[in-house]
Amino acid sequence: MKGVCLCGGSGTRLKPLTNIISKCLLPIHDKPMVFYALKTLVDAGIDEIILVCGGTFNGEFMKVIGDGKDLGIKNLCYTVQREPKGIAHALATAESWAKGDSVALILGDNIFTDNIKDVAKNFSSGASVFLKEVANPQAYGVVEINEQSKVLSIEEKPACPKSNLIATGLYMYDQTVWNRIRDLKPSNRGEYEITDLNKNYLETGELNSYKLSGWWADCGGSLDEYTKTCFDFYQMKGN
Ligand code: TTP
Repeated sequence: MKGVCLCGGSGTRLKPLTNIISKCLLPIHDKPMVFYALKTLVDAGIDEIILVCGGTFNGEFMKVIGDGKDLGIKNLCYTVQREPKGIAHALATAESWAKGDSVALILGDNIFTDNIKDVAKNFSSGASVFLKEVANPQAYGVVEINEQSKVLSIEEKPACPKSNLIATGLYMYDQTVWNRIRDLKPSNRGEYEITDLNKNYLETGELNSYKLSGWWADCGGSLDEYTKTCFDFYQMKGN
């Protein structure tokens, strides 16, 4: 399995900080935000990674991460998404690089403490989403599951969420993902949505789910969330 780490996008919600630096390079405790996502992949045994950037600060990623060896990455590539047309669109930039392997996709503004090594090792086909219970599910892709963890539905930012479980910014896809992305249509906001890609797997009965037990943060939702994550992380480190 190879890893795809997304660091494009506009970072509008973290303005004015993102006027001078890419969101995923903003500091969280003692490291740039994206280091945590890259570590999640490396700790899962995924050391062939492509980093997708796409804003004004593309060159800065190379300055900060370099060849990735200090982070335990064996083979690091960079690519550029020319326009921020959504997470599924950003993933598509990795197609020729992935060369038919399955991929773990992680958003560069998400931080996980779970180790997903076993899930990565046992992944064979379909898609997997990693779930977390939150207090405000209507802000995310809401996932409804049954007692056997079978996914029953997945809805993007529903007004009336069917559960408080949401899909975090970590996914695994088999090699059929590229054709499925080609079938997607842009949403009302003009983006190729990751929830639509996951729905495609759900429709063919190939969407699996795993509940995360560790700590998780999406640092990009608002300046308050970003600041809270910095604070939580500081406390978690035992300060
Ligand atoms: P989002 O937080 O959904 O989008 P954004 O970064 O554009 O921020 P905002 O909505 O505040 O303008 O993105 C989640 C992650 O996915 C983040 O690491 C950036 C990445 N991303 C891309 O690489 N390409 C894209 O087209 C989008 C939308 C996001």
